[in-house]
Amino acid sequence: MEELLDSVVLEKPVSTPIAGFDVERIREDFPILQTRVHGNPLVYLDNAATSQKPQAVIDAISNYYSGENANIHRGVHYLSELATRKYEETREKVRDLINAKSIREIVFVRGTTEAINLVSSTYGRENIRAGDEIIISNMEHHSNIVPWQLLCESIGAKLKVIPINDDGEIIFDEYLKLLNDKTKLVAVVHTSNSLGTINPVQQIISGAHAHDVPVLLDGAQAVPHQKINVQDLDCDFFAFSSHKFFGPTGVGVLFAKEDLLEKMPPYEGGGEMITSVTFEKTTYNELPHKFEAGTPNIAGVVALGKAIDYVSEIGYENIHRHEVELLKYATEELSSIKSLRLIGTAAKKAPVISFTLDNIHPHDMGTILDRQGIAVRTGHHCTQPVMERFNVPATTRASFAFYNTKEEIDRLVEGIHHGLNLFN
Ligand code: ALA
Repeated sequence: MEELLDSVVLEKPVSTPIAGFDVERIREDFPILQTRVHGNPLVYLDNAATSQKPQAVIDAISNYYSGENANIHRGVHYLSELATRKYEETREKVRDLINAKSIREIVFVRGTTEAINLVSSTYGRENIRAGDEIIISNMEHHSNIVPWQLLCESIGAKLKVIPINDDGEIIFDEYLKLLNDKTKLVAVVHTSNSLGTINPVQQIISGAHAHDVPVLLDGAQAVPHQKINVQDLDCDFFAFSSHKFFGPTGVGVLFAKEDLLEKMPPYEGGGEMITSVTFEKTTYNELPHKFEAGTPNIAGVVALGKAIDYVSEIGYENIHRHEVELLKYATEELSSIKSLRLIGTAAKKAPVISFTLDNIHPHDMGTILDRQGIAVRTGHHCTQPVMERFNVPATTRASFAFYNTKEEIDRLVEGIHHGLNLFN
Protein backbone atom coordinates (compact mmCIF):
# COMPACT_ATOMS: atom_id res chain seq x y z
CA MET A 1 0.00 0.00 0.00
CA GLU A 2 2.90 2.32 0.86
CA GLU A 3 4.22 2.04 -2.71
CA LEU A 4 0.86 2.65 -4.28
CA LEU A 5 0.34 5.70 -2.12
CA ASP A 6 3.72 7.17 -2.95
CA SER A 7 3.01 6.75 -6.65
CA VAL A 8 0.17 9.29 -6.63
CA VAL A 9 1.10 12.00 -9.11
CA LEU A 10 0.72 15.46 -7.67
CA GLU A 11 0.31 18.27 -10.11
CA LYS A 12 1.48 21.71 -9.18
CA PRO A 13 -1.53 23.79 -8.13
CA VAL A 14 -2.45 26.51 -10.61
CA SER A 15 -3.98 29.57 -9.01
CA THR A 16 -7.34 30.90 -10.16
CA PRO A 17 -7.47 34.44 -8.79
CA ILE A 18 -10.75 35.99 -7.68
CA ALA A 19 -10.86 39.73 -8.26
CA GLY A 20 -9.48 41.69 -5.30
CA PHE A 21 -8.31 38.61 -3.45
CA ASP A 22 -4.91 37.05 -4.06
CA VAL A 23 -5.05 33.67 -2.39
CA GLU A 24 -1.51 32.71 -3.36
CA ARG A 25 -0.22 35.89 -1.75
CA ILE A 26 -2.27 35.20 1.39
CA ARG A 27 -0.93 31.65 1.61
CA GLU A 28 2.59 33.05 1.91
CA ASP A 29 1.57 34.54 5.27
CA PHE A 30 0.96 31.04 6.69
CA PRO A 31 4.30 29.22 7.14
CA ILE A 32 2.68 25.85 7.75
CA LEU A 33 1.00 25.93 4.35
CA GLN A 34 4.45 25.79 2.75
CA THR A 35 5.30 22.50 4.48
CA ARG A 36 5.17 18.94 3.14
CA VAL A 37 3.52 15.96 4.78
CA HIS A 38 4.62 12.44 3.86
CA GLY A 39 6.60 13.99 1.01
CA ASN A 40 3.61 15.87 -0.46
CA PRO A 41 2.66 19.54 -0.21
CA LEU A 42 0.27 19.91 2.70
CA VAL A 43 -3.41 20.33 1.83
CA TYR A 44 -4.95 21.51 5.08
CA LEU A 45 -8.70 20.93 5.10
CA ASP A 46 -9.31 20.62 8.84
CA ASN A 47 -10.06 24.24 9.57
CA ALA A 48 -13.22 23.53 11.55
CA ALA A 49 -11.02 21.69 14.08
CA THR A 50 -8.49 24.50 14.20
CA SER A 51 -7.27 27.09 11.73
CA GLN A 52 -3.67 27.78 10.78
CA LYS A 53 -1.95 30.95 11.99
CA PRO A 54 -0.47 33.79 9.94
CA GLN A 55 3.10 34.89 10.66
CA ALA A 56 1.77 38.08 12.32
CA VAL A 57 0.02 35.99 14.99
CA ILE A 58 3.04 33.74 15.51
CA ASP A 59 5.29 36.80 15.80
CA ALA A 60 2.93 38.46 18.28
CA ILE A 61 3.40 35.56 20.72
CA SER A 62 7.16 35.58 20.34
CA ASN A 63 7.36 39.38 20.58
CA TYR A 64 5.19 39.39 23.66
CA TYR A 65 7.47 37.00 25.54
CA SER A 66 10.65 38.59 24.13
CA GLY A 67 9.88 42.19 24.99
CA GLU A 68 6.52 42.78 26.64
CA ASN A 69 5.87 40.07 29.23
CA ALA A 70 4.50 41.09 32.62
CA ASN A 71 1.36 40.43 34.60
CA ILE A 72 -1.57 42.71 33.80
CA HIS A 73 -3.80 45.04 35.86
CA ARG A 74 -1.40 44.68 38.76
CA GLY A 75 1.76 46.69 38.34
CA VAL A 76 2.75 50.30 37.98
CA HIS A 77 5.95 49.39 36.16
CA TYR A 78 6.46 49.93 32.44
CA LEU A 79 6.10 46.32 31.30
CA SER A 80 2.97 45.72 33.33
CA GLU A 81 1.36 48.81 31.86
CA LEU A 82 2.43 47.79 28.35
CA ALA A 83 1.07 44.25 28.72
CA THR A 84 -2.17 45.61 30.22
CA ARG A 85 -2.60 48.05 27.34
CA LYS A 86 -2.02 45.34 24.72
CA TYR A 87 -4.41 42.94 26.45
CA GLU A 88 -7.11 45.58 26.74
CA GLU A 89 -6.56 46.69 23.12
CA THR A 90 -7.64 43.22 22.03
CA ARG A 91 -10.79 43.54 24.10
CA GLU A 92 -11.67 46.67 22.12
CA LYS A 93 -10.84 44.84 18.84
CA VAL A 94 -13.17 41.99 19.83
CA ARG A 95 -15.89 44.48 20.72
CA ASP A 96 -15.51 46.05 17.30
CA LEU A 97 -15.33 42.65 15.53
CA ILE A 98 -18.73 41.54 16.83
CA ASN A 99 -20.13 45.06 17.33
CA ALA A 100 -20.84 44.76 21.03
CA LYS A 101 -21.99 47.97 22.73
CA SER A 102 -19.28 48.01 25.36
CA ILE A 103 -16.00 46.35 26.30
CA ARG A 104 -17.73 45.51 29.59
CA GLU A 105 -19.60 42.84 27.60
CA ILE A 106 -16.42 41.07 26.42
CA VAL A 107 -15.08 38.38 28.76
CA PHE A 108 -11.90 36.48 27.88
CA VAL A 109 -12.11 32.76 28.56
CA ARG A 110 -10.19 29.66 27.42
CA GLY A 111 -12.48 28.92 24.50
CA THR A 112 -16.08 28.38 23.44
CA THR A 113 -16.40 25.40 25.78
CA GLU A 114 -15.46 27.47 28.81
CA ALA A 115 -17.74 30.31 27.72
CA ILE A 116 -20.75 27.97 27.62
CA ASN A 117 -19.80 26.36 30.93
CA LEU A 118 -19.51 29.82 32.44
CA VAL A 119 -23.06 30.70 31.37
CA SER A 120 -24.52 27.37 32.52
CA SER A 121 -22.75 27.59 35.90
CA THR A 122 -23.68 31.20 36.61
CA TYR A 123 -26.69 32.41 34.64
CA GLY A 124 -28.07 28.87 34.52
CA ARG A 125 -27.75 28.13 38.24
CA GLU A 126 -29.17 31.51 39.15
CA ASN A 127 -32.17 31.52 36.81
CA ILE A 128 -33.18 27.95 35.99
CA ARG A 129 -35.19 25.84 38.42
CA ALA A 130 -36.60 22.32 38.68
CA GLY A 131 -39.20 21.73 35.96
CA ASP A 132 -37.85 24.53 33.72
CA GLU A 133 -36.73 23.80 30.17
CA ILE A 134 -33.64 24.58 28.12
CA ILE A 135 -33.85 24.28 24.33
CA ILE A 136 -30.91 23.15 22.24
CA SER A 137 -30.84 21.60 18.75
CA ASN A 138 -30.02 18.19 17.35
CA MET A 139 -26.89 19.59 15.67
CA GLU A 140 -25.08 20.90 18.77
CA HIS A 141 -21.44 20.27 19.49
CA HIS A 142 -21.00 18.29 22.71
CA SER A 143 -19.83 21.52 24.33
CA ASN A 144 -23.32 22.95 23.88
CA ILE A 145 -25.02 19.78 25.13
CA VAL A 146 -23.10 18.47 28.13
CA PRO A 147 -22.94 21.70 30.20
CA TRP A 148 -26.76 21.92 29.95
CA GLN A 149 -27.17 18.24 30.79
CA LEU A 150 -25.01 18.72 33.88
CA LEU A 151 -27.12 21.69 34.90
CA CYS A 152 -30.41 19.88 34.22
CA GLU A 153 -29.28 16.84 36.20
CA SER A 154 -28.28 18.90 39.21
CA ILE A 155 -31.40 21.08 39.39
CA GLY A 156 -34.07 18.88 37.83
CA ALA A 157 -34.61 20.93 34.67
CA LYS A 158 -35.32 19.40 31.24
CA LEU A 159 -33.41 19.56 27.98
CA LYS A 160 -35.58 19.93 24.86
CA VAL A 161 -34.09 19.24 21.45
CA ILE A 162 -35.11 20.92 18.17
CA PRO A 163 -35.17 18.22 15.48
CA ILE A 164 -33.39 18.63 12.14
CA ASN A 165 -34.47 17.55 8.66
CA ASP A 166 -32.65 15.29 6.18
CA ASP A 167 -30.67 18.26 4.84
CA GLY A 168 -29.41 19.04 8.32
CA GLU A 169 -31.58 22.12 8.90
CA ILE A 170 -33.49 23.03 12.03
CA ILE A 171 -37.22 22.31 11.67
CA PHE A 172 -38.37 25.77 12.61
CA ASP A 173 -42.02 24.94 13.30
CA GLU A 174 -40.91 22.29 15.76
CA TYR A 175 -38.72 24.88 17.45
CA LEU A 176 -41.64 27.25 17.86
CA LYS A 177 -43.70 24.42 19.34
CA LEU A 178 -41.02 23.76 21.98
CA LEU A 179 -41.10 27.35 23.27
CA ASN A 180 -43.43 27.76 26.24
CA ASP A 181 -43.70 29.28 29.71
CA LYS A 182 -41.23 26.77 31.13
CA THR A 183 -38.50 27.65 28.62
CA LYS A 184 -35.73 29.55 30.39
CA LEU A 185 -32.96 29.52 27.78
CA VAL A 186 -32.33 28.68 24.13
CA ALA A 187 -28.74 27.62 23.35
CA VAL A 188 -28.02 26.87 19.69
CA VAL A 189 -25.13 26.66 17.34
CA HIS A 190 -24.84 29.49 14.81
CA THR A 191 -23.00 27.35 12.24
CA SER A 192 -22.70 23.59 12.57
CA ASN A 193 -19.18 22.14 12.73
CA SER A 194 -20.19 18.75 11.32
CA LEU A 195 -22.91 19.71 8.80
CA GLY A 196 -21.89 23.22 7.82
CA THR A 197 -25.49 24.43 8.29
CA ILE A 198 -25.87 28.14 9.00
CA ASN A 199 -28.89 28.38 11.25
CA PRO A 200 -31.58 31.09 10.95
CA VAL A 201 -30.33 32.60 14.19
CA GLN A 202 -32.12 35.92 13.77
CA GLN A 203 -35.50 34.14 13.62
CA ILE A 204 -34.51 31.77 16.42
CA ILE A 205 -33.72 34.77 18.62
CA SER A 206 -36.92 36.63 17.69
CA GLY A 207 -38.94 33.49 18.48
CA ALA A 208 -37.31 33.13 21.90
CA HIS A 209 -37.54 36.82 22.75
CA ALA A 210 -41.28 36.75 22.01
CA HIS A 211 -41.41 34.51 25.11
CA ASP A 212 -38.85 36.65 27.03
CA VAL A 213 -36.34 33.82 26.76
CA PRO A 214 -32.65 34.70 26.33
CA VAL A 215 -30.55 33.06 23.61
CA LEU A 216 -26.97 31.82 23.65
CA LEU A 217 -25.24 31.34 20.29
CA ASP A 218 -22.27 29.02 19.91
CA GLY A 219 -20.42 31.07 17.32
CA ALA A 220 -17.21 29.03 17.11
CA GLN A 221 -17.72 28.08 13.44
CA ALA A 222 -19.35 31.35 12.42
CA VAL A 223 -16.76 33.99 13.29
CA PRO A 224 -14.06 32.66 10.91
CA HIS A 225 -16.47 32.96 7.97
CA GLN A 226 -18.89 35.83 8.43
CA LYS A 227 -19.33 39.19 10.08
CA ILE A 228 -21.19 38.90 13.36
CA ASN A 229 -23.15 41.81 14.74
CA VAL A 230 -24.42 40.94 18.21
CA GLN A 231 -26.50 44.13 18.40
CA ASP A 232 -28.32 43.40 15.14
CA LEU A 233 -28.80 39.79 16.15
CA ASP A 234 -29.85 40.92 19.63
CA CYS A 235 -28.40 37.68 21.04
CA ASP A 236 -27.94 37.58 24.79
CA PHE A 237 -24.80 35.44 24.84
CA PHE A 238 -22.32 34.71 22.04
CA ALA A 239 -19.25 32.49 22.36
CA PHE A 240 -16.29 31.86 20.08
CA SER A 241 -12.71 30.54 20.13
CA SER A 242 -9.57 32.29 19.01
CA HIS A 243 -7.95 29.16 17.59
CA LYS A 244 -10.63 28.63 14.95
CA PHE A 245 -10.19 32.29 14.01
CA PHE A 246 -6.48 32.18 13.04
CA GLY A 247 -5.43 33.08 16.59
CA PRO A 248 -3.77 30.93 19.26
CA THR A 249 -5.32 28.10 21.27
CA GLY A 250 -6.35 28.63 24.89
CA VAL A 251 -8.24 31.87 24.34
CA GLY A 252 -11.90 32.48 23.68
CA VAL A 253 -14.55 35.10 24.09
CA LEU A 254 -17.85 35.24 25.86
CA PHE A 255 -20.04 38.17 24.86
CA ALA A 256 -23.01 38.75 27.14
CA LYS A 257 -25.36 41.69 27.43
CA GLU A 258 -24.20 43.96 30.19
CA ASP A 259 -27.38 43.80 32.27
CA LEU A 260 -27.15 40.00 32.31
CA LEU A 261 -23.46 39.99 33.28
CA GLU A 262 -24.18 42.49 36.06
CA LYS A 263 -26.69 40.12 37.63
CA MET A 264 -24.69 36.93 37.14
CA PRO A 265 -22.59 35.65 40.06
CA PRO A 266 -18.86 35.15 39.44
CA TYR A 267 -17.74 31.94 37.73
CA GLU A 268 -14.39 31.36 39.42
CA GLY A 269 -13.00 33.00 42.53
CA GLY A 270 -9.45 34.28 42.80
CA GLY A 271 -7.24 37.25 42.16
CA GLU A 272 -8.30 39.99 39.78
CA MET A 273 -12.05 39.33 40.04
CA ILE A 274 -12.40 41.14 43.39
CA THR A 275 -12.33 44.72 44.64
CA SER A 276 -11.81 43.79 48.28
CA VAL A 277 -11.44 40.61 50.30
CA THR A 278 -11.89 40.14 54.02
CA PHE A 279 -12.71 36.93 55.83
CA GLU A 280 -16.16 38.36 56.46
CA LYS A 281 -17.02 39.54 52.97
CA THR A 282 -15.62 39.81 49.46
CA THR A 283 -16.80 42.33 46.90
CA TYR A 284 -16.37 41.78 43.21
CA ASN A 285 -14.56 43.70 40.52
CA GLU A 286 -16.39 45.63 37.82
CA LEU A 287 -17.25 44.09 34.47
CA PRO A 288 -15.75 42.28 32.73
CA HIS A 289 -13.00 41.58 35.29
CA LYS A 290 -15.49 39.95 37.69
CA PHE A 291 -15.41 36.97 35.30
CA GLU A 292 -11.64 36.84 34.72
CA ALA A 293 -10.13 35.28 37.85
CA GLY A 294 -6.39 34.61 37.92
CA THR A 295 -3.70 35.44 35.41
CA PRO A 296 -5.17 34.97 31.93
CA ASN A 297 -3.50 33.85 28.71
CA ILE A 298 -2.08 37.33 28.09
CA ALA A 299 0.12 36.39 25.12
CA GLY A 300 -2.78 34.51 23.58
CA VAL A 301 -5.14 37.46 23.94
CA VAL A 302 -2.55 39.85 22.46
CA ALA A 303 -2.05 37.48 19.51
CA LEU A 304 -5.82 37.17 19.03
CA GLY A 305 -5.73 40.93 18.48
CA LYS A 306 -3.33 40.35 15.58
CA ALA A 307 -5.64 37.68 14.13
CA ILE A 308 -8.48 40.20 14.22
CA ASP A 309 -6.28 42.77 12.44
CA TYR A 310 -5.36 40.16 9.84
CA VAL A 311 -8.94 39.11 9.08
CA SER A 312 -10.06 42.74 9.00
CA GLU A 313 -7.38 43.53 6.46
CA ILE A 314 -8.55 40.77 4.14
CA GLY A 315 -12.17 41.67 4.77
CA TYR A 316 -15.17 39.45 5.38
CA GLU A 317 -16.57 40.29 1.94
CA ASN A 318 -13.52 38.83 0.22
CA ILE A 319 -13.47 35.86 2.56
CA HIS A 320 -17.14 35.17 1.89
CA ARG A 321 -16.82 35.47 -1.89
CA HIS A 322 -13.84 33.11 -1.98
CA GLU A 323 -15.36 30.57 0.39
CA VAL A 324 -18.67 30.48 -1.48
CA GLU A 325 -16.68 29.54 -4.61
CA LEU A 326 -14.76 26.87 -2.72
CA LEU A 327 -17.91 25.36 -1.24
CA LYS A 328 -19.69 25.32 -4.59
CA TYR A 329 -16.72 23.77 -6.38
CA ALA A 330 -16.07 21.18 -3.66
CA THR A 331 -19.76 20.22 -3.49
CA GLU A 332 -19.92 19.72 -7.27
CA GLU A 333 -16.67 17.80 -7.49
CA LEU A 334 -17.37 15.55 -4.51
CA SER A 335 -20.95 14.91 -5.65
CA SER A 336 -19.57 13.50 -8.89
CA ILE A 337 -18.08 10.59 -6.93
CA LYS A 338 -20.72 7.87 -7.23
CA SER A 339 -20.28 6.13 -3.91
CA LEU A 340 -20.09 9.38 -1.93
CA ARG A 341 -22.98 10.55 0.27
CA LEU A 342 -22.99 14.12 1.49
CA ILE A 343 -24.11 14.53 5.10
CA GLY A 344 -25.43 18.06 5.43
CA THR A 345 -27.01 19.66 2.38
CA ALA A 346 -28.62 22.72 3.92
CA ALA A 347 -29.53 25.64 1.67
CA LYS A 348 -27.32 27.95 3.76
CA LYS A 349 -23.91 26.46 4.49
CA ALA A 350 -20.46 27.44 5.65
CA PRO A 351 -17.53 25.85 3.77
CA VAL A 352 -17.72 22.52 5.57
CA ILE A 353 -18.42 19.24 3.77
CA SER A 354 -19.06 15.99 5.59
CA PHE A 355 -19.42 12.78 3.64
CA THR A 356 -19.38 9.01 3.79
CA LEU A 357 -18.25 6.53 1.14
CA ASP A 358 -19.72 3.10 0.48
CA ASN A 359 -17.56 0.32 1.90
CA ILE A 360 -14.80 2.55 3.31
CA HIS A 361 -14.78 3.63 6.92
CA PRO A 362 -14.03 7.35 7.31
CA HIS A 363 -10.95 6.55 9.41
CA ASP A 364 -9.49 4.47 6.57
CA MET A 365 -10.20 7.21 4.07
CA GLY A 366 -8.69 9.78 6.44
CA THR A 367 -5.52 7.72 6.71
CA ILE A 368 -5.25 7.27 2.94
CA LEU A 369 -5.70 11.01 2.43
CA ASP A 370 -3.14 11.76 5.13
CA ARG A 371 -0.55 9.68 3.32
CA GLN A 372 -1.06 12.02 0.37
CA GLY A 373 -0.54 15.09 2.56
CA ILE A 374 -4.25 15.89 2.82
CA ALA A 375 -5.51 16.69 6.33
CA VAL A 376 -9.23 16.11 6.94
CA ARG A 377 -11.04 15.19 10.13
CA THR A 378 -12.76 11.85 10.51
CA GLY A 379 -15.05 10.68 13.30
CA HIS A 380 -18.13 12.10 14.97
CA HIS A 381 -16.72 15.63 15.23
CA CYS A 382 -17.95 15.94 18.82
CA THR A 383 -21.52 15.78 17.50
CA GLN A 384 -22.58 12.20 18.18
CA PRO A 385 -26.32 13.06 18.04
CA VAL A 386 -25.79 14.28 14.46
CA MET A 387 -24.22 10.93 13.52
CA GLU A 388 -27.15 9.14 15.12
CA ARG A 389 -29.65 11.36 13.25
CA PHE A 390 -28.05 10.45 9.92
CA ASN A 391 -27.50 6.86 10.95
CA VAL A 392 -23.75 6.89 10.30
CA PRO A 393 -20.97 6.00 12.76
CA ALA A 394 -18.71 8.79 11.53
CA THR A 395 -18.02 11.02 8.54
CA THR A 396 -15.01 12.36 6.71
CA ARG A 397 -15.05 16.15 6.90
CA ALA A 398 -13.27 18.67 4.71
CA SER A 399 -13.51 22.17 6.15
CA PHE A 400 -12.12 25.19 4.35
CA ALA A 401 -10.65 28.57 5.19
CA PHE A 402 -9.97 31.61 3.01
CA TYR A 403 -6.44 30.33 2.24
CA ASN A 404 -7.65 27.13 0.58
CA THR A 405 -7.76 26.77 -3.20
CA LYS A 406 -9.69 24.91 -5.87
CA GLU A 407 -6.48 23.07 -6.68
CA GLU A 408 -6.49 21.68 -3.15
CA ILE A 409 -10.04 20.48 -3.71
CA ASP A 410 -8.78 18.73 -6.87
CA ARG A 411 -6.12 17.06 -4.71
CA LEU A 412 -8.82 15.94 -2.27
CA VAL A 413 -10.96 14.47 -5.06
CA GLU A 414 -7.93 12.71 -6.60
CA GLY A 415 -7.03 11.42 -3.15
CA ILE A 416 -10.50 9.99 -2.61
CA HIS A 417 -10.41 8.29 -6.03
CA HIS A 418 -7.08 6.83 -5.09
CA GLY A 419 -8.57 5.45 -1.87
CA LEU A 420 -11.53 4.01 -3.75
CA ASN A 421 -9.18 2.26 -6.17
CA LEU A 422 -7.25 0.75 -3.28
CA PHE A 423 -10.38 -0.58 -1.60
CA ASN A 424 -12.32 -1.76 -4.65
N1 ALA B 1 -15.02 21.38 17.36
C1 ALA B 1 -13.86 21.08 16.59
C2 ALA B 1 -14.20 20.34 15.32
O1 ALA B 1 -15.28 20.47 14.82
C3 ALA B 1 -12.80 20.44 17.36
O2 ALA B 1 -13.38 19.63 14.79
